Amino acid sequence: MYFKQFLHDDLGCSSYFIASRESREAVVIDPQYDIEQYLDLATERGYHIIGVVDTHLHADHISGNRRLAKATGAKLYLHRSADVRFPFEPLDDGDELHLGQVILRVVHTPGHRPESISLLVTNPPRSPEPSIVLSGDTLFVGDVGRPDFGGPEGALEQFESVQRLLGLPDYVEVFPAHFEGSCGKGMCGRPSSTIGFERRFNPLLQLPKGEFLSLAEEAPARPLNMTAIMATNQGDNDYEWVHEHGEGEPPVHSIEPKDGPAWIAEHHAMVLDVREPSEYAERRIPGAVSIPQADLATRMAEIPRDRDVLVACAGGVRSIKAAGFLKSAGFEHVTNLLGGTDGWQEAGNPVDMGEAAVV
Ligand SMILES: [Fe+2]
Repeated sequence: MYFKQFLHDDLGCSSYFIASRESREAVVIDPQYDIEQYLDLATERGYHIIGVVDTHLHADHISGNRRLAKATGAKLYLHRSADVRFPFEPLDDGDELHLGQVILRVVHTPGHRPESISLLVTNPPRSPEPSIVLSGDTLFVGDVGRPDFGGPEGALEQFESVQRLLGLPDYVEVFPAHFEGSCGKGMCGRPSSTIGFERRFNPLLQLPKGEFLSLAEEAPARPLNMTAIMATNQGDNDYEWVHEHGEGEPPVHSIEPKDGPAWIAEHHAMVLDVREPSEYAERRIPGAVSIPQADLATRMAEIPRDRDVLVACAGGVRSIKAAGFLKSAGFEHVTNLLGGTDGWQEAGNPVDMGEAAVV
């Protein structure tokens, strides 16, 4: 067996290349958009990629699944329930993919997404039992995947799916689809773990069911350009260009919150609030227009190109990325508000409070 984990530092994703050294067949799991890394590895090592699997429809990056399947002639696999507009080989719980002697067994683990699967990897010459679980965005190292993309039953399904994985023996190694990033809240940063370690030390797995369900509902902000990314990954619409512009993040000019009111007046700037609608409704910079970062690529027509735009979020983390994306997509007059709406208010500037219709 050959096993390689790819760590993608830009968004904190992991992808996997698993092959049989006997049959030379390989499967790539959760491939990134840049597929050359898998093609190069296959060429260097003399493997033939026969399968491409996504553990679920990704919300934070455009999958390379269709590009890789097309480039290699490999079959493209997703769980049967995946809501997409392109052909794929449907997987069901208990199905097996065989690469020579290596077996990948499908475990349907809905929660993060309805179609989420995990893959149990068994190498029979070593043992009849699985030694690895590719846990997708179900079980992370020190965390579990956010369940709010999984529909109304997401949190409960996630609890049950995680319990199912915890039924595996302690020695099974856990390799998730993320080691950082927006699909969870408290990942520890290690790229892998074991079932035994997570059962004992993953803080969410120590919680009783009720607390797990309520904590799981406190989701972080949706990822930058999620609407465009999901539309692309589902085959509804093609926003592949988002991938190119998401990467560059050219330097963006920033201003201090204390200088904000004078700067806005002087530049006749529009304030673009990229937080979630609920955050905007609660408290906002007066006159700010709400376009959550998840919708930036699909709502760019609403953003002026010939006028200064001051991008603001809660603390300045989302806005610098959002402003970088806009700049690389051709918006020349974007400026970032350091410290976000929090910094704005702490500097003594006025805010509008209370429920407000999203502008
Ligand atoms: Fe995910």
